[in-house]
Amino acid sequence: SRTVKSGAAVTLQYGSKTFSTTSHNHFKVTVAGGSGGIGQPLCLLLKQNSLVSHLAVYDISKITPGVAVDLSHIDTATRVTGHKGVDQACEAMKDADVVLIPAGMPRKPGMTRDDLFSSNASILRDITADFAKYAPEKSIMAIITNPVNSMVPIASEVLKKAGKYDPRRVLGVTTLDIVRAATFVGQINCIDPAEVTVPVLGGHSGVTIVPALSQCQPPVKLCNEEDIKRLIKKIQEAGTAVLNAKAGGGTATLSMAYAAARFTCSILRALAGEANIVECAFVKANRCDTPYFACPILLGRNGLEKNLGTGNLNELESSLLKKAIPELLKNIKTGEDFVMKPQ
Ligand code: NAI
Repeated sequence: SRTVKSGAAVTLQYGSKTFSTTSHNHFKVTVAGGSGGIGQPLCLLLKQNSLVSHLAVYDISKITPGVAVDLSHIDTATRVTGHKGVDQACEAMKDADVVLIPAGMPRKPGMTRDDLFSSNASILRDITADFAKYAPEKSIMAIITNPVNSMVPIASEVLKKAGKYDPRRVLGVTTLDIVRAATFVGQINCIDPAEVTVPVLGGHSGVTIVPALSQCQPPVKLCNEEDIKRLIKKIQEAGTAVLNAKAGGGTATLSMAYAAARFTCSILRALAGEANIVECAFVKANRCDTPYFACPILLGRNGLEKNLGTGNLNELESSLLKKAIPELLKNIKTGEDFVMKPQ
């Protein structure tokens, strides 16, 4: 873990780079979409986390029992169970402390994240309905499925309808943007990216990804605004760079699995009572211009404990955020409308 100035200018620990900890706790983590491109390496990392006593691999794919058997041969104490098909959602989610959701279609070349809405909206709606039915009230949902900006509103509306909504427990995973920003700044500054922290604000697609480079710790060694703008674009378009480099064979899966494992580890450490755990996430906002927003949050025993806000932004970042908000509102409305006015 690292110590940094958070957006709220309080010195806090930020994230976790290691997935193995010395403390042993007994958390059940369910991965819905656990047999997919992200799901499998994510499960591999979680199987090595001593905070996870039970890893439930849930997916509709026929390989799911095999993925679970494969993982179960790894010589760590984490118990692994496989759950194939929606009729096993109950077993998969029962007693889960955290339900991670990377279920759904990834992008193909030429697609934006929003193009995934029609295929992924109903998947997310149905998994959330099962979460409401079968997961404990204290369970935390972390949504990886794209478009995250619309999926978090869908999950929230489904949970509201079921009378189970707690905004502290619905988290959209944007950690990959933070991981990418730290990596690129590490390269520019010629330092270990583990030493770098950059909050990324707004949302998780295109212009809604707003890296707060002025808050970068240590400061990014770029002097002119053109270089800063190029770096912002590189962070915003990093997912597309992977998509194109994989030439139609998938999107970011390995770096996403790393990011989700780190995010999960932070949630579990906070659930275990560790103080000052901060991650960025797309959550219910405490601002008047948008109902959901990605920013640093303090994690606690109930998930989101405190929204730390944007901190001070420079002129460029404020103008990027101004452009991001209408797009964000559009994405959020698409998600809410899907639940409120079903097709
Ligand atoms: P994938 O297609 O390899 O895996 C998706 C898995 O979900 C498959 O195994 C499929 O059988 C399963 N699935 C589909 N419907 C399901 C249901 N109703 N219940 C349970 N499982 C179900 O896709 P990949 O590459 O793993 O990506 C998954 C999602 O994550 C995509 O939407 C992608 O856009 C998103 N993603 C999000 C990122 C982020 O930063 N939040 C970064 C990269 C990808």
